[in-house]
Amino acid sequence: MRVRPAGPLRGTVKVSGATKNSGLKQLAAALLASGVTHVRNLPRVRDLDVMLDVLRAVGATVQWTGDEELTIDTSGQLQPEAPYELVRQMRASINVLGPLLARCGEARVALPGGDNIGSRRLDMHFRGLEAMGAELTVEHGFVDARCNALCGARIVLEFPSVGATENLLTAAVLAKGETVIENAAREPEITDLTAFLNRMGAHVLGAGTSTITVEGVDELVAADTEIMGDRIEAGTFLMACGIAGGEINLTGVRLEHLEMVGVKLGDMGMRVSPTPDGIWAQAVEPLQAVDIATLPYPGFATDFMPMAVAALALSEGTGIVTENVFDNRLAFVEELARMGADIRREGRHAVVRGRPRLSGAPVRAFDVRAGAALALAGMKADGETVIDDWFHVERGYPNLVGALSTLGADITPA
Ligand code: EPU
Repeated sequence: MRVRPAGPLRGTVKVSGATKNSGLKQLAAALLASGVTHVRNLPRVRDLDVMLDVLRAVGATVQWTGDEELTIDTSGQLQPEAPYELVRQMRASINVLGPLLARCGEARVALPGGDNIGSRRLDMHFRGLEAMGAELTVEHGFVDARCNALCGARIVLEFPSVGATENLLTAAVLAKGETVIENAAREPEITDLTAFLNRMGAHVLGAGTSTITVEGVDELVAADTEIMGDRIEAGTFLMACGIAGGEINLTGVRLEHLEMVGVKLGDMGMRVSPTPDGIWAQAVEPLQAVDIATLPYPGFATDFMPMAVAALALSEGTGIVTENVFDNRLAFVEELARMGADIRREGRHAVVRGRPRLSGAPVRAFDVRAGAALALAGMKADGETVIDDWFHVERGYPNLVGALSTLGADITPA
């Protein structure tokens, strides 16, 4: 992708449905009931294609019914095995483990392995399922899980892992008795998933808090779902506005889902307010540097961190960034440094000294958000920034290029 300097940004964009971080989880949860689920507000991203292949591999039938909506039919016999060729392409495949185990009494899912942002272990997923009575063996690159019947349990997570909370929640809904997940992840995507589960007939209380209580039921029924707006995409647009200047309106998202981003951008000198159907933001140049530490929700999400580093690289002053969630997510700063950013990284910390402008360069996207961060930096980098491995960005953003172009950015395929 080629980015040239642009700005100020102006205009209104509708934020996409959160396919990657919410939609994929609900598609996996649809496996819990036999029947047809209609999913809306599910724009296409690369990772969606992988999840649909996983669902087909286990025996579901998928049919597109519109640009951003599809049905998934799980009435047939399921073959509870997720093969390595699919799982290796996308970690969220592991989300089928809980639903398959709960519905079929067994599941065999390939292990996804680490990726460019860190080691990404699954121990909490496994320990929680074992506490519910599952027997797990991890051999030859697969986890084999089986159980006669899952039983409710009290599970304390060592860290509020999003994926572990989702897997345990989607197993507990069909377990016998009560499951309590303590130190549960509180991300809005967990609440979105829970609303879907409850519409299917599950009894889940406390989503959005650190204690989730699930009273297991014998059976769930297929229900429809509409995926929430993508708060990470919204945050990306806000930071683009901070970097390039201007005034933008976002619809289809709630500021309370990215409150800490709003607070930090406010501290940096931007004006950010909720509107009845979204968020309004105005940049007052130049941005002022702040310190940022990533934390589980409602803290500053790790998924915003790369864009925040790009914004700090173009701010007045020095900001210290601490990445607390993934052990290697700051690796991408080397690419920003190729664009002239003044960043010193020490493990989980980066010291970012702001500059008025960067210098366009050929760079490489390490992961979905790092790629977006480079695009944002390119908007205030002299000359041309050409971003290689852009497919990473397309794993999570359905239309980043189109939306940024609508707002006035100069971004085109190279
Ligand atoms: N962890 C463990 N053991 C476990 C589970 C997690 O040690 O059993 C560790 C991980 O290694 C990591 C930390 O806990 O260091 C957080 O992992 P978490 O399980 O919360 O993350 P995830 O479910 O794998 C989702 C999103 C990520 C997002 C994180 C944190 C999806 C598909 N992925 O991953 O999204 O960064 O939660 O909010 O929803 C992105 O969108 O760019 C992205 C990477």
